Amino acid sequence: MTSKHSPTFGPYMDSKQLLEWYISAGVDEAVDEVSVDYFNAVELPAPEEKRKADIPAVHAAEAPPVPARPAASSPSPLHHTPSAATQQAREIAQTITSLAELEAAVRAFDGCAIKKTASKTVFSDGNPEASCMIIGEAPGAQEDVQGIPFCGPSGQLLDRMLAAIGLDRTSVYISNTVFWRPPGNRQPTPEETAICLPLVEKHIALVKPKLLVLSGGVATSTLLKKDLSISRLRGKLYEYKNDFMDQPVPAIVTFHPSYLLRTPSQKRLAWNDLLMIKIFLQSLFRA
Ligand code: URA
Repeated sequence: MTSKHSPTFGPYMDSKQLLEWYISAGVDEAVDEVSVDYFNAVELPAPEEKRKADIPAVHAAEAPPVPARPAASSPSPLHHTPSAATQQAREIAQTITSLAELEAAVRAFDGCAIKKTASKTVFSDGNPEASCMIIGEAPGAQEDVQGIPFCGPSGQLLDRMLAAIGLDRTSVYISNTVFWRPPGNRQPTPEETAICLPLVEKHIALVKPKLLVLSGGVATSTLLKKDLSISRLRGKLYEYKNDFMDQPVPAIVTFHPSYLLRTPSQKRLAWNDLLMIKIFLQSLFRA
């Protein structure tokens, strides 16, 4: 018997289904047609002196042959080294002067490998004139289908949380630390967030929110460069600034809705964060 989610091969799963199953499991890179047992095939590199003293030489004739990797016919634009891709993103961000230009540049950007497995670029939702900008982690499955941030289960919770303090998508602006869904809904890697960071920084600089809300650990560590847990960081007002901004903006850190879905006991603390957001935004209108 087969199920839609089981990795059963052969006549029960055609190659398209198999590929889809690989992608949903996070396998996003086709490397070689034949797998290589590197443990048996190669000698581990060691410093020259230590190797001579401690390790008997492995003779080429004794070592099993290492299958040659087929040469890539042409370098893919999606295989930039992260630092080159980050540099490319920074150069693009430096030339941009409007949100429309930024969105077009993000859609055209090929430097981040997760674009390859995603169906859509997920740029933003909500009102770019709003006082409050929320940055989440990364698009999930539903966002990848619709191209809209926070439109799946965690987005529904986010909408309920916003409604509890009188906000909705006409009064907030929403984006993420990366613009494409990481395969298998995994977290974006530090390399992926680093590549997108100049574009995210430019995004914040163009929107100039009065309050930046960082939702979850990935947004917080990427933008505030603080690696403490949300439990330790929440409840305070931070100043956020990047190289594209003249002035810092206040920032609040809170739990990610998908964490709250998994850990409902933290909703009590999230409610305090929401009240802090509400009081801060009300103070802007009174000023
Ligand atoms: N989680 C996020 O962080 N962002 C989304 O857009 C959806 C789910």
